Amino acid sequence: MRTVHSLKELRTILRGYRQQGKTIGLVPTMGNLHDGHISLVRKAAEMADVVVTSIFVNPMQFGAGEDLDRYPRTLAEDQDQLAAAGNTLVFAPTVAEIYPEGLAKQTQVVVPDVSDGHCGASRPGHFEGVATVVTMLFNMVQPDVAVFGEKDFQQLAVIRKMVRDLMVPVDVIGSPTVREDDGLAKSSRNGFLSPEERKIAPAVFQTLQAVCKEIANGRTDFPALESEAEARLAEAGLRPDYFNIVNSQTLKPATPEDSDLTLLVAAFLGTTRLIDNLSLSR
Ligand code: PAJ
Repeated sequence: MRTVHSLKELRTILRGYRQQGKTIGLVPTMGNLHDGHISLVRKAAEMADVVVTSIFVNPMQFGAGEDLDRYPRTLAEDQDQLAAAGNTLVFAPTVAEIYPEGLAKQTQVVVPDVSDGHCGASRPGHFEGVATVVTMLFNMVQPDVAVFGEKDFQQLAVIRKMVRDLMVPVDVIGSPTVREDDGLAKSSRNGFLSPEERKIAPAVFQTLQAVCKEIANGRTDFPALESEAEARLAEAGLRPDYFNIVNSQTLKPATPEDSDLTLLVAAFLGTTRLIDNLSLSR
């Protein structure tokens, strides 16, 4: 497995693969890889001849006061895990390689509507940063297929719409959330949790499951369910950012007539912001 840091090297190597008629799969990440990321790499390896994993902590998607500086950078460990998972090439560019003129002068990709609300409301500019860097990665790698986690449900919806609206020739594949034994969704940010916080963290998934059950049992008073869920999170020791019950396609507030629902949650534990989601069909 090779690691390249420059766009020039990346293009040279990928040109070779394409000349051999090989298909290319892309897994965009910010590194500090865990089993969730690795599951995406394995899926990409099933779908394409060559798998490129990008590792880039993208400053454009972090707001002021967020965790850009403390975000863990662990390239050597990441490389070991990727080699074992059948990854072909790691693309780990520098910030200067991606944004040579700086962030202020960078052209941005804005994906309206689906970026509104939820994490988009709490993190202004976040999805513009995601959509911009993912567009650039698609243009740099020109993959046949790209794999993203359902863990970041709104992000996946933003990328699907961006690809549709801009006619990007790539197949976007969603992959299920990988969890710890106690249900906590795996996340690079879990490493920020103190031992006490780590004990509280499974309440996020437990709350999702409890609300899911209530809906399966016939409740359709969604605003009341959302308030109850936030109270339950607060009771457990979390600071809820939002708990929203939405239509899985539009991400707009669910109505009793909707058949495909998704519960979206974000909550703080100390300074760490956790997100998770759960979908159900009725
Ligand atoms: P990052 O948080 O590193 O996640 C990279 C990919 O791994 C995303 O598609 C995310 O949804 C997926 N992922 C994370 N945790 C997962 C889990 N527990 N189970 C399954 N998949 C999981 O998301 C980003 O980076 C960035 O926003 C990025 C798309 C790379 C753009 O900068």
